[in-house]
Amino acid sequence: MSIHYEIISDNNIICIKDLCNELMAYQKSSANIHPEWFDNMSFESRMIPSIESAKANFIIVAKDDAEIIGYAYSNICHKNTYSGGFATLKPVDFFDFDSINSSDVGCLSQFYIKEGYRESGIGTVLFNRSMDWLNSLESIDDLFIFVSNGNDNALKFYQSEGFKISYNILEGFIIVLRNI
Ligand SMILES: CC(C)(COP(=O)(O)OP(=O)(O)OC[C@H]1O[C@@H](n2cnc3c(N)ncnc32)[C@H](O)[C@@H]1OP(=O)(O)O)[C@@H](O)C(=O)NCCC(=O)NCCS
Repeated sequence: MSIHYEIISDNNIICIKDLCNELMAYQKSSANIHPEWFDNMSFESRMIPSIESAKANFIIVAKDDAEIIGYAYSNICHKNTYSGGFATLKPVDFFDFDSINSSDVGCLSQFYIKEGYRESGIGTVLFNRSMDWLNSLESIDDLFIFVSNGNDNALKFYQSEGFKISYNILEGFIIVLRNI
C-alpha cells in the first residue's frame, strides 16, 4: 500500500463520483430512521449542487498508487444556504441561527474511506487536512458536521476529534455536531 494525498479542484470532482455514491449507500445501510430518504441522494443530487452553492470548497483525496480510495469534502457557505433543504428533503433550518455570529459557516460535508483501508489512519490525515483548511479561514468560527442516524462509528470518530453533538434535525435523521 502506497498512500498519498492530493487536493482536487472543483472542476475535477467527477473522479470521486463512485466513492460519493458508495458513501450514500453506506449511510443508507447504517440508518434506522428513514433509510429510504437516501434513495434520491447521489453524486448528482448532493455533491454537484453543494459544490456549486458553496463560497469555497476543499476536496482532498487519498490515493493508493493511482486509485482514489478515500476523500474528504469541506466547504464554506452562507449560513442561509442550508435552510433551503437537504438534497431532495424538505426545507429545514440546519442551524440555530441566533447562536452564529458570522454570516458564513464551515462544514465537513462528506468523508469516506473505502472498506479495507479504514482504521489505518488515512481518515485522520484527511480530517486534519480539512480542519487545517477550515481553520485557516479567518471569517469562519463555526464548524459543523452532519452525521446520518445509525452511523455510530463516524459519531465516535468526530467526538474523539473534539466535535460535540449539538442537536438532531429531520426527526432524528441527522445529528448535527459543532466545534463549539
Ligand atoms: C469514518 C471514517 C472516514 C474514518 O476513517 P478511518 O481511516 O477509518 O479513520 P482512522 O483510521 O484515521 O481512525 C479511526 C479510528 O481507528 C483508529 N486507528 C488508527 N489506526 C489504526 C490501526 N492501524 N489499527 C486499528 N485502529 C486504528 C484510530 O485511532 C481511530 O480510533 P478512535 O475512533 O478511537 O479515535 C471511515 O471509517 C469511513 O469511511 N467510514 C464509512 C463512511 C463514513 O461513515 N463516513 C462518515 C460520514 S459522516
